[in-house]
Amino acid sequence: MYLSGVHNRAGNFAAAGPTGHATMTQPNRPNPDIEREFGVPFPGRILAPTKWTQTALKEMPAEGRLNWAELFGRVAPIVLDLGCGNGRFTIGSALTRSTHDHLGTDILPMVIRYARKRGNQRGLTNARFVVLGGHELLERYVEPHSVAEIHCYHPQPFYDPAQVHRRLITPAFLAVVHRSLIPGGLFVIQTDNPGYWRYIRDVVPVFFAFHERIGRWQDSPKGRTRREIVAMKKKLPVFRGHGTARPDLSEADALRLADALPPPTFDAERRLRDLDRLG
Ligand SMILES: C[S@@+](CC[C@H](N)C(=O)[O-])C[C@H]1O[C@@H](n2cnc3c(N)ncnc32)[C@H](O)[C@@H]1O
Repeated sequence: MYLSGVHNRAGNFAAAGPTGHATMTQPNRPNPDIEREFGVPFPGRILAPTKWTQTALKEMPAEGRLNWAELFGRVAPIVLDLGCGNGRFTIGSALTRSTHDHLGTDILPMVIRYARKRGNQRGLTNARFVVLGGHELLERYVEPHSVAEIHCYHPQPFYDPAQVHRRLITPAFLAVVHRSLIPGGLFVIQTDNPGYWRYIRDVVPVFFAFHERIGRWQDSPKGRTRREIVAMKKKLPVFRGHGTARPDLSEADALRLADALPPPTFDAERRLRDLDRLG
C-alpha cells in the first residue's frame, strides 16, 4: 500500500485515496487508484498528490543535444519510446526498472498530456515525456551512442497515399537509431500491420542483428501498449522483433546503406484503419 490506511468502525481496512482521504475498500468495487484500459490495468497506481512529480519535458535545448545526466540528475541507461502514445510502455518500464531513465515522445500533444499526467500521478522521477517527432528527436537532440534502448510500438501506418511520406520507419530513420544506440544497444519494434512488418523485416536486419519474437512479451502478456491490447482483443496478429545495433557498421556506412534501400511505400491495407479510432 502506498499510503497508510486506517481501520474503520466496522474493522475493515480503508485505504487512503489519491486525495489522501480514507476511502472504503469494498470487495466488488474497482479500486479508483488503479486505472484500466479495455479491462487491462494501467501500470502502477495513482499516488497521493503530495507524491506527484513532474514528467514534462517542455523545452528542448536551443542548441546542441540533450544532456541525459542533467535531465535526470544522475547517470543511468537511457530508454527511448518513439511514438509512445499514452505512455503505457514507458510508465510500466520506468516503474519496474528504476535503474533506467526513460523518455517518451509523440507528435500528438493530447496523448503526451495523458502520459505526463499518469507519469506525474505515479511519482516517477525516471521518466519524461515530450511532444516531438521520433526522427527529429534522434537526429537533432540525441548524442550519438548515448542510448541503451530504443522502442517503437505500432508506428502509425498512414493509410492515405498522400501521408505515406510521414511513416516513421525509413532507412534514414534506422540509420539514426543505429547511431543513437550504444554498442550492443537494443532496438525493439512491433506492429499489427502486415505490410509494415514485411517492410521492417526487409530493412531492419541491414542495421541490426534482428530477431523476430514468437509470442507475447512475458512482462506484459496482455500488451505492453494500448495499441497492442486493442490489436490482441481484435485477434489481429502482432508482429514483434528486437535487435542489437551491428557493431561493425560506421555512421557513414549506415547512411550509405540507407540511401540504397527502398522507402516504406508498402500497402497498409485500409481495412485496418477503423482500429485506429480505438488504438
Ligand atoms: C498507433 S499509435 C501507437 C501508440 C503506442 N506506441 C501504442 O502502441 O499504443 C502511433 C503513435 O505514433 C505517433 N506518431 C506518428 N508519427 C510520429 C512521429 N513521426 N514521431 C513520433 N510519434 C509519431 C502518433 O501520434 C500515435 O500516437
